[in-house]
Amino acid sequence: MRFKVSIIGAGNVGSETARYLLHKDLADVVLIDIVEGLAKGKALDLGQASQIIGFSGKIKGSTNYEDIADSEVVVITAGLPRKPGMSRDDLIEVNFKIIKDVCEKVKIYAKNSIVIVVTNPLDAMTYAAYKILGFERERVIGQAGVLDSARLSYFVAQKLNVSPYEVQGLVLGTHGDDMIPLIRYTTVNGIPITKLLSQEEIDEIVKRTKYGGGEIVQLMGTSAFFAPGSATAYMVEAILKDSKKMLPASVYTKSEYGLSDVVIGLPVILGKNGVEKIVELELNEEEKNALNSCAEHIKELQSVVDRLLVN
Ligand code: APR
Repeated sequence: MRFKVSIIGAGNVGSETARYLLHKDLADVVLIDIVEGLAKGKALDLGQASQIIGFSGKIKGSTNYEDIADSEVVVITAGLPRKPGMSRDDLIEVNFKIIKDVCEKVKIYAKNSIVIVVTNPLDAMTYAAYKILGFERERVIGQAGVLDSARLSYFVAQKLNVSPYEVQGLVLGTHGDDMIPLIRYTTVNGIPITKLLSQEEIDEIVKRTKYGGGEIVQLMGTSAFFAPGSATAYMVEAILKDSKKMLPASVYTKSEYGLSDVVIGLPVILGKNGVEKIVELELNEEEKNALNSCAEHIKELQSVVDRLLVN
């Protein structure tokens, strides 16, 4: 059986997500974009690489949401990216309108799908999607933690001159400047990085991880897409293969970590049903305080979303 994944937003992140899924031959892919011709053009371009790369998955570009019917997973990357000087939070009003438009259609045409949100500000947009879609929380998941953790792992690997593949970084909380790189749980093949790096080196890595997205926006004038697209497709792959990967993702909390009614990055197990479990790690006081202050910040953004939802 072939899987079907639809990606709403055929821009930079959406295209990179599609490319990963196709190159690994994981699913047929539908790309949807509001801009006439963009999704169709990208689909043709991606498809024309199939003979060279060696994949058989079908790719279709469209502006018509009927094409997303029967998708196992829908990825939402539609929305504006940051420009230099902007925070992710600055995008809330403009991207809320886009998320609303997209989710209302996903709800009609792919009501059984698992939805992965990538649009920023990530946690608030995942909350908006959860409210608009009305799906159970296990099927509305935000992608940020995989990306932030991969950035942390990459910087650790660079500093130690080891393969990034050997590093298991873990970042929880929000996808913003107050994200929480959990150094105690970051290891190189099981060895805590606190045994391998000085505090000064760790502080430098933490700082660079937190501003990892901003560093790229400053360099390119728009936001990153290779790592965000790969991180998103990695989550899709875990769902399609039912691989029960434990990874950080943004989820709607009911009581976990003492939090409720907030969408925040926590470790989860991903499988064919979406979020199959939220894993409760033991946190020290400092980590708990950091998570609580992330939650407060996200709740402020969620109250903006709540206001926009009734207007
Ligand atoms: N419906 C469908 N597509 C839309 C809509 C809509 N209502 N509104 C915008 N789009 C499309 C745009 O036409 C564009 O092709 O979304 C795409 C976004 O692509 P980019 O501008 O290249 O942005 P990208 O870098 O992919 O980032 C997308 O992900 O990481 C986040 O912060 C980032 O919020 C941003 C999102």
